Amino acid sequence: MMTTTSILAATIAAVAAAALPSSATAATPAPTCTGAPSYLVSFHFRWSQATHPDSFVPSAHFSPIVVAAHTAAYTMWLPAGYATPGMKDVAETGSTAALSTSLAEYEAAGHVSSWGTGAPAAVPPFSTETLTVQVNGTSGASLLSGSSMLAPSPDWFVGMSRVELCNGSTWLTAARGRLALVDAGTDSGTTLTAVDVATVPPTAIREFGAFDFPQLGRGYGTWVAEKI
Ligand SMILES: *[C@@H]1O[C@H](CO)[C@@H](O)[C@H](O)[C@H]1NC(C)=O
Ligand SMILES: *[C@@H]1O[C@H](CO)[C@@H](O)[C@H](O)[C@H]1NC(C)=O
Repeated sequence: MMTTTSILAATIAAVAAAALPSSATAATPAPTCTGAPSYLVSFHFRWSQATHPDSFVPSAHFSPIVVAAHTAAYTMWLPAGYATPGMKDVAETGSTAALSTSLAEYEAAGHVSSWGTGAPAAVPPFSTETLTVQVNGTSGASLLSGSSMLAPSPDWFVGMSRVELCNGSTWLTAARGRLALVDAGTDSGTTLTAVDVATVPPTAIREFGAFDFPQLGRGYGTWVAEKI
């Protein structure tokens, strides 16, 4: 009998395999970077009345960011997969407690080389600032994932998933991208301030289309990882 956890792991593995073009799977050798480089990972948030005139509320903010360097055996979140209890909490409430517990377990098992959290400063603005945390890769743990709740919202978060920091046998000096806006699939609200409506059963994690509410053609910022 499969446990819920093993079904989830199998689903994530199947989704991860399906997401790779078959030619890339066959042609790209596994990364072989050695050493334990440190990266400063920054989330540059961009959400204001000026940038999002039709999808902003005065209480707009982002929850503490969580960033991890990990092996292919760990998944923080993945489109078409299902939210873990930790990601459900991050997406719905911004709480990082359950996700942190899970990261510590994967770290103890050798699948997360390091992880960190960073909270907004005590002074506003909370929706246009930059948060930075340091994580260290290791041989075999060269994937980068991160997340932060778009708040208030039903279950929407921003982040990046499974970004490869090892190019062949060389650690990248820098990597960057836009912060993806994602629906965790656990709450059915459709507006930023909607009352909680649990989605039962949950639906798959889904990245918002560029012109879906609340993006409306505008992103929520960028991330950058710089080797130090
Ligand atoms: C990363 O490595 C540096 C240097 O060894 C160390 O000071 C730092 O605490 C490490 N950070 C984490 C999150 O493990
Ligand atoms: C990876 O390495 C190859 C070969 O050195 C190089 O051409 C390519 O630009 C590198 N990719 C990245 C993302 O740095």
